[in-house]
Amino acid sequence: MSEKNVIKRAIFPGSFDPMTNGHLDIIKRSLSLFDEIIIAVLNNPEKNPMFSVEERCSMISEILPEIEDGKCNLVVDSFSGLTADFARNTRSVAIIRGIRAVADYEYELRMALMNRRLEPEIETVFLMAAEEYSYVSSNLMKQVFTLGGRVEGLIPRLVEAKMKEKLSTDEHR
Ligand code: PNS
Repeated sequence: MSEKNVIKRAIFPGSFDPMTNGHLDIIKRSLSLFDEIIIAVLNNPEKNPMFSVEERCSMISEILPEIEDGKCNLVVDSFSGLTADFARNTRSVAIIRGIRAVADYEYELRMALMNRRLEPEIETVFLMAAEEYSYVSSNLMKQVFTLGGRVEGLIPRLVEAKMKEKLSTDEHR
């Protein structure tokens, strides 16, 4: 039997700049569906992210133990290039994406169909985030936090601490 048949592996790709409680909620919901999930952090320096890909991976690795269930193996990795290629190269059977509201649907549908065209055997699995996170996005969190608004409960505590650190070092530059 090939490894593909033994381990049901999925990737959860994204920018994760930074990870929010909405992302964590999607990972939690995926735990019972797969044997292994690779949180696949896109290396996208051209987007001028707040956190480097290394910082994002390291934060996620520190946060994941909070939700681990002991059955599904959670792995953090970064990638460049096409998500479909990364999914194939890691022998994943699925690409996990979260949908918050109708507004996400069109973009996600286009990506899922394109990824299916590129890799017909890999399915995109959409999961609905909890209602309380339906408006939470990394960009909104960064904007509100940077302007002094409260974001607790919407992002992991570690992310909040790292954003605070990042802002104070930026201010002293
Ligand atoms: O967290 P995001 O920014 O919504 O994630 C978007 C992501 C990383 C999944 C998407 O931009 C992506 O897949 N980028 C890699 C390049 C690629 O495969 N593009 C074609 C997608 S159909």
